[in-house]
This record gives sequence, structure tokens and C-alpha cells, in this order.
Amino acid sequence: MVTSARPPLADRATIGLTVNGERHEFEIGDRPYMVSPAHTLAHTLREKLGLTGVKIGCDHGACGACTVIMDGKPILSCLTLTVECDEKSVTTIEGLEDRKSGQLHPLQQAFINNTAFQCGFCTPGMIMSAKALLDRNPSPSEDDIKEALAGNYCRCGSQYLVIRAVKEAAAPPPLKKGD
Ligand code: FES
Ligand code: FES
Repeated sequence: MVTSARPPLADRATIGLTVNGERHEFEIGDRPYMVSPAHTLAHTLREKLGLTGVKIGCDHGACGACTVIMDGKPILSCLTLTVECDEKSVTTIEGLEDRKSGQLHPLQQAFINNTAFQCGFCTPGMIMSAKALLDRNPSPSEDDIKEALAGNYCRCGSQYLVIRAVKEAAAPPPLKKGD
């Protein structure tokens, strides 16, 4: 019987990863062009793919700056080993704009409209957490937004404007009977 299933990771020297819609295959190993088993996803995205919108703040899972979306869920790429991501689909801030028109994602535009950043270091992670929230809940309450962004730390104190930006990008709440 012919099967197209990939052999288990331990039996292979490569891993496959789709990033912002593009498929990448990496060799696993310790040579400079390879992905080391010790490399984090944040490191691979930045150093192997040049996606420097993925920020590394604490590198310990405490600040949220490195947040990307993997298979629909926000994850901390500094706490995720690349070799654990075989056949996963990852979206970074670079993958949000419209590929054909180059138009910014509504969330990116809302952050600009509301000046929801100062130095901007935390902003890609904030936007990715907010994107994951709006994908699963297009009309979140203010408490929903605060909860979804609770792991994203802003040293510049832009949080109130961030909440305003996410509200702007959200769909209006559904009308209730009698509205
Ligand atoms: S860099 Fe990943 S949580 Fe701070
Ligand atoms: S805008 Fe500077 S850390 Fe958030």
C-alpha cells in the first residue's frame, strides 16, 4: 500500500512549516543554515526567514512581544521549539496585510488611527493576540479584550489606546430584539 504520510519526526532530517501562506522546509541540525533542535520558533522566524516583526522581549514567556498565531491560536514563539512545529501553519504580523493590494489589516489601521503605540516594540504581539481574539469573537466586550491581551505587556503604557483600537477593528455588537 502506498501512503503519503510523513514518517515520524525522529526518523526525518527535515521539518515543514507554512509561514504566512508560504511553505518552508528546514533541515534539522547544528550547521549554520539548519534549524537546531534547540532553536525557538521566534529565533527561526527572525533569523532564518527574516520576519523581524516577531519581537523578542523577555525570551521567557513573560511579555507577549513574540506572539504569533499558530493553527488559529496565539502562541508565544519564544517558548516554542521549531522542531515541535512540523506541519503547522504560522501567521506573523508580516502576514496580515493584503498580499495583492498591500493594504493594511483593519487591526493594523486601527492601531495607527488610535496611536495605540509609542515605541511600538510590543505592537506586533498585541496585534496578533487581538487578531486571534477577533477571529474567534468578532464582537468582544472590553473585558474580553483585556483578558485576551492580558499576556501582552506594554512598557510605554499604551494599553488604553490599544483597547480603543481593538474596539474600532471589532464588528459592532449584534442588534438585540427591540434595538
Ligand atoms: S519574548 Fe516571548 S513572551 Fe517575551
Ligand atoms: S509601545 Fe512601547 S512597549 Fe508598547
